[in-house]
Amino acid sequence: MSRYKGLINPDIIPKHIAIIMDGNGRWAQKRSLPRTEGHKRGADVIEPLMDASIKLGIKTVSLFAFSVENWSRPKLEVKELWDLLKYYFQNNIERIKKKNIRIIHSGSTRRLPPSTKKIIQNAVDETKKNRKIVLNFCVNYGGRQDIVDGVNKWLKNRKPDEQLSVKKLERNLYTSGLPEVDLMIRTSGEFRISNFLLWQLAYAELVFMDVLWPDFNESHLYEAIYQYQQRERRFGKI
Ligand code: IPE
Ligand code: IPE
Ligand code: MG
Repeated sequence: MSRYKGLINPDIIPKHIAIIMDGNGRWAQKRSLPRTEGHKRGADVIEPLMDASIKLGIKTVSLFAFSVENWSRPKLEVKELWDLLKYYFQNNIERIKKKNIRIIHSGSTRRLPPSTKKIIQNAVDETKKNRKIVLNFCVNYGGRQDIVDGVNKWLKNRKPDEQLSVKKLERNLYTSGLPEVDLMIRTSGEFRISNFLLWQLAYAELVFMDVLWPDFNESHLYEAIYQYQQRERRFGKI
């Protein structure tokens, strides 16, 4: 039992949490296992995280699973990550459907391997009526690319002399329609954003935790939410 669980105020639960699931490689290295083993164990953390999030009443969880920069890793690791993602959706889609979880994909589909693209699209289509919680998979995602793609999308239907606004750009981001990110958690002890939801994190509370992602459990989620609840969110007011 987490000591933080009982301390959580049920009236100020974040609506949208975003997580940089970092530290899989180090988790594996510490155990002299191949890095992929860390990624596999990391994937196993997602279901209990979603169960706990549903229980808490969180409405959206965004997970950073593959960044546009991750293409610079060794070819084999990249391939194994795509295989794992495919395997993850193939094996979990029925349970995701039963749990009333809606899958959304944030990220570019341009460089995605065709089979991965198909499986993600299928997960999105098959869960589009689900309402309990949104699981936003950020795959082949870059915060800068999100903004540039959004501007280009907007430009396609732009009327002559029409100007872009914050609201209009927001409607063209991958995360269009999702609530603001309230809480961003990064595991593995790194203190950076690594091109995650740059625009969407504008007023998020940031919590950095020392735990490596495969070791992340319900207690860490409670602890992060507890920390979030201790913050005073001012949004520029006094
Ligand atoms: C995060 O774990 C998962 C992905 C980036 C796909 P890492 O693979 O970055 O693990 P570390 O940071 O090397 O330990
Ligand atoms: C961020 O982690 C990307 C994901 C978790 C998918 P990285 O491990 O790629 O980030 P850096 O390289 O440490 O900034
Ligand atoms: Mg990393």
